Amino acid sequence: MNELRDILRKEAYRLEQEKKKLVESDPWRLQFHLMPPVGWMNDPNGLCQFQGKYHVFFQYTPYDAQGGLKVWGHYSSSDWIHWDYHGIPLLPDCPYDVSGVYSGSALVDDETMYLYFTGNVKYDGDYDYINNGREGNTVLVESKDGYTIGDKCCVLKQEDYPKDYTCHIRDPKVFRYGENYYMVLGGRKKDETGAILLYVSKDKKTWNLQKELRADGPFGYMWECPDLFSVSGRWICAFSPQGISRESYQFQNIYHSGYVVLDEKPFGENEKGDFYSVPVHRFREWDMGFDFYAPQTFEDENGRRILIGWMGISDGDLEYKNPTVEKGWQHALTLPREIIWKDDILYQYPIKEVDALRGEKVIVENGKAEVEKGCFDLLLCGKETEKCQICLAQGLIFSYDGSEISLELSKELGRGRSIRRAKTDGVKQIRILADTSAVEIYVNGGEYVFTTRYYPLEQNVSVQVDWKDAQIQMWEMNGFSW
Ligand code: FRU
Repeated sequence: MNELRDILRKEAYRLEQEKKKLVESDPWRLQFHLMPPVGWMNDPNGLCQFQGKYHVFFQYTPYDAQGGLKVWGHYSSSDWIHWDYHGIPLLPDCPYDVSGVYSGSALVDDETMYLYFTGNVKYDGDYDYINNGREGNTVLVESKDGYTIGDKCCVLKQEDYPKDYTCHIRDPKVFRYGENYYMVLGGRKKDETGAILLYVSKDKKTWNLQKELRADGPFGYMWECPDLFSVSGRWICAFSPQGISRESYQFQNIYHSGYVVLDEKPFGENEKGDFYSVPVHRFREWDMGFDFYAPQTFEDENGRRILIGWMGISDGDLEYKNPTVEKGWQHALTLPREIIWKDDILYQYPIKEVDALRGEKVIVENGKAEVEKGCFDLLLCGKETEKCQICLAQGLIFSYDGSEISLELSKELGRGRSIRRAKTDGVKQIRILADTSAVEIYVNGGEYVFTTRYYPLEQNVSVQVDWKDAQIQMWEMNGFSW
């Protein structure tokens, strides 16, 4: 199997060298969002702060910008601005993960980084790959320095999972609480409902099922990327459900990501009962834009709960064609967002380190400005009662009409995408962080966020703000050093 790993790694690094120039020549290459060196990127994995560095691993397919065999790529940074790329620490190279190293998380404990991931295995043959023909094993690797990774150890095999589940069980998120370690895994049950399995361990290696977290009503057939954490004393259960019907003001994408505020801690030593009922009518989507899925959170050494999402989505709308594929890459990650409990919901806002990327102030006259290369931070504060509209690159219109917020993309800039909406009582603040081909729009300090890719036709991006008496501040944004 080591031979296989060497072949895959060699081919990945060859492609990274070969396609580097093509990717770098792309004017839509992102400046201050993490994106794959070449090829395809999806979920953030293994987020943590370890020995003074922030580590961001990610689902990566250097072999093909349209996706395929998954490995983990690895970036690290001390300040979220200067990044180092460390190559590919995890590749499919053992019987437990031969068809792909899928998503997972990091646990920092005993001065060691423990990485848990799903080893995907697909058998050759005539299978439906739902109830048979695949495995989602839970695999552990350890690192003493955050870069060199030890041997793989399979801690849960497909056959260890409950019998009322299909073969779709994955995405371990591990955390410590008191003397115990807990792991949540997302799954698809045989009765076509999504749910979360909660395991407990004393030693990080032997895991016992403690309970199931399941919906108290219909809520999709599969829950991916589960997360369980507390913010200001509230327990939050986050996951990415699949199989929910689209609606006008929520669930507008094919798949969704959000959270439910629980009434109490859903686990414990003396807990009775084998399931916890998740009140899914409280589910709130993290993001209302076109490109957001499979986020992960972690707590940094300052106690901040930071969320990073995949700025992309799988099985997206067929009419959408991402033009960067021709330039050898696809998808990216969102900015890191601090999540804060406020007014009974979670607000998200870019961590303060992002402000250090602000460069020259941009002069805005009569609500109009033009920014070379299209990277900027635009901060608007206005009267809540007013309607407002902001237009970027003559094709992205973000507006509030007194009851509805909308993000509208022209045919050219949206490449097949048109409109996303949200209902709100008022808009008093809007912050738009625009990169060459992506925007993150934070409304009311993070009450709503709209994240989307867009493809301006020129590198110079015009901005027009129509918001009576609004205060406008605007900066050019510098790119990451990487
Ligand atoms: C979410 C997901 C995960 C899986 C990974 C594979 O986008 O489907 O459930 O582990 O991507 O790349």
